[in-house]
Amino acid sequence: AAMAAERTLAMVTCTAPVNIAVIKYWGKRDTDLILPINSSLSVTLHQDQLKTTTTAAASRDFTEDRLWLNGKEADVGHPRVQACLREVRRLARKRRGGGEDAAALSLSYKIHIASENNFPTAAGLASSAAGYACLVSALARLYGLEEELSEVARRGSGSACRSMFGGFVQWQRGERPDGTDSLALQVAPETHWPELRVLVLVVSGEKKPVGSTAGMQTSVETSPLLKHRAEVVVPERLAQMMQHIRDRDFDGFGQLAMRDSNQFHATCLDTFPPIFYLTDVSRHIIALAHRYNAHHGHTKVAYTFDAGPNAVIFALADAVAEFVEVVRRSFPPATNGDQFVRGLPVGSAALPPGLEAAVLTEPVPGAVQYILHTKPGPGPQLVDDPSQHLLGPDGLPRSRA
Ligand code: DP6
Repeated sequence: AAMAAERTLAMVTCTAPVNIAVIKYWGKRDTDLILPINSSLSVTLHQDQLKTTTTAAASRDFTEDRLWLNGKEADVGHPRVQACLREVRRLARKRRGGGEDAAALSLSYKIHIASENNFPTAAGLASSAAGYACLVSALARLYGLEEELSEVARRGSGSACRSMFGGFVQWQRGERPDGTDSLALQVAPETHWPELRVLVLVVSGEKKPVGSTAGMQTSVETSPLLKHRAEVVVPERLAQMMQHIRDRDFDGFGQLAMRDSNQFHATCLDTFPPIFYLTDVSRHIIALAHRYNAHHGHTKVAYTFDAGPNAVIFALADAVAEFVEVVRRSFPPATNGDQFVRGLPVGSAALPPGLEAAVLTEPVPGAVQYILHTKPGPGPQLVDDPSQHLLGPDGLPRSRA
């Protein structure tokens, strides 16, 4: 009787966002379950500018699990990919209460997954958070799950759990050894602070020397500053940051974001042997932001840096055009015809002579490759249009341009 209802091919496509932490996650207390030593807080960026798209398909005809990243076949056996797959299938099994629901997709089918980013991986923008959030969202939809999934995304990459929500998101550290309370929670939706803007300054040059996963483990083992940060500093800052966000207090938000980025990089220097993610260009941008704010007499722009040299700048919409002009004058684009400002439109601004004198220094041509203008955005989305699937009806990647 069940035979007519059995489904033989199912396909789902989702998109998921990048997020940027303003209270940083750095350090695990459990490296297998990915449990952090402190809570963290991030802003989810808009998917019009930065997103991962993932198609997951399951079929009776597939003979093995397979994975393609940006069009190239990749190792589906990667322990973190396997952890996400295992957890989603476990939840699906639990939901069905052991009994086989004939209308539901069989859990014994092999799956094919294809994933790609709408931004160059070479740009050094954190892609693992969006990638794992997207993988988990697509798999969950495929199996019809509706429960809380940040706990599963966390198993792919710690910061990925925060990409499961839009707007302003807290990853709560949790207390339990099994990680069931180490979850992401939305602090406020993306509509909460409509004037907030984000500029990603993509810095030219080398890839990061030490990955986050290895780097933070060395920090946990060697940095007394990191221990103090996790135990004393972050709990205080987290409460303050939530209040600044609730109040839409840009001065408070920006200052704390800068201080927290600086302390994270200080823990990297305190790691032994030390880790350096900031470059001369990063430090140049930091000094520029402080001169700019000092000139205006308050916090107009705030920077934050993850495990790499690219700056992420927060500003209110009315400050964007002027600061972009300051960046353009400080780091004149190498004339290669590429668009220097990408993403949301940026108006033109003339710099008052007083500002030029106080803020600009000797220009460093080509040091910033381009600026991406974006804003806070929503969490993972289901893509309804079947023409957007990354896998064809045969379950293999569609040919790419
Ligand atoms: C500096 O989430 O990439 O971006 O959990 O080992 O995958 P794993 O690390 P990951 O670390 C992100 C570190 C950070 C700060 C942050 O996003 O909070």
